Amino acid sequence: MTDHLTIVDHPLVQHKLTLMREKDTSTKTFRQLLREISHLLAYEVTRNLPMTTKEIETPLCAMSAPAIEGKKLALVSILRAGNGLLDGVLELVPAARVGFIGLYRDEETLQPVQYYCKLPSDLGNRLTIAVDPMLATGNSSAAAVDLIKKAGGRNIRFLCLLAAPEGVARMKEAHPDVPIVTAAVDNFLDDRGYIVPGLGDAGDRMYGTK
Ligand code: URA
Repeated sequence: MTDHLTIVDHPLVQHKLTLMREKDTSTKTFRQLLREISHLLAYEVTRNLPMTTKEIETPLCAMSAPAIEGKKLALVSILRAGNGLLDGVLELVPAARVGFIGLYRDEETLQPVQYYCKLPSDLGNRLTIAVDPMLATGNSSAAAVDLIKKAGGRNIRFLCLLAAPEGVARMKEAHPDVPIVTAAVDNFLDDRGYIVPGLGDAGDRMYGTK
């Protein structure tokens, strides 16, 4: 993947995102839509994985068949909203190794504070996909990628549902080697760090909290 930013403009993704943005969409429907959309985003973020061939036998004959090259992927969920994307991506890539990074945003400084980090051991040999639905200021995302790199990650992609221009710029400055895949880049961040027009707090909408 060479582009720093890929916007997945597939009609199914855009339609589902619109339903997710609507304020009256229920928790149950929001969660279901996130699961569906995460399959489509997973399809895009894994589109150009390196391929090899393996020798297999069909019931009719032997053949060289395509297979994904290299070690199993690693997925890293940025808690807690990342888990909503993680579940759907895991359904498409069920053998992936999974890590978790817990960061919360200090509401005054908007800076990330780490409270948990558990990552697969050999990240250096795996494509690592960090997942978080909302790329807002980019501070948490950049900090999460810092932790992945400290743990040895070298080939990293960032998957989100919605991004703010500020977050994309922050990631490009901090991690120009990490391509971002998203369904949309919205207009701006408000003074509380929410993406506008956005969809509100992804974690709250996903889990029915306030
Ligand atoms: N996190 C969210 O859940 N929503 C935003 O708009 C920004 C950050």
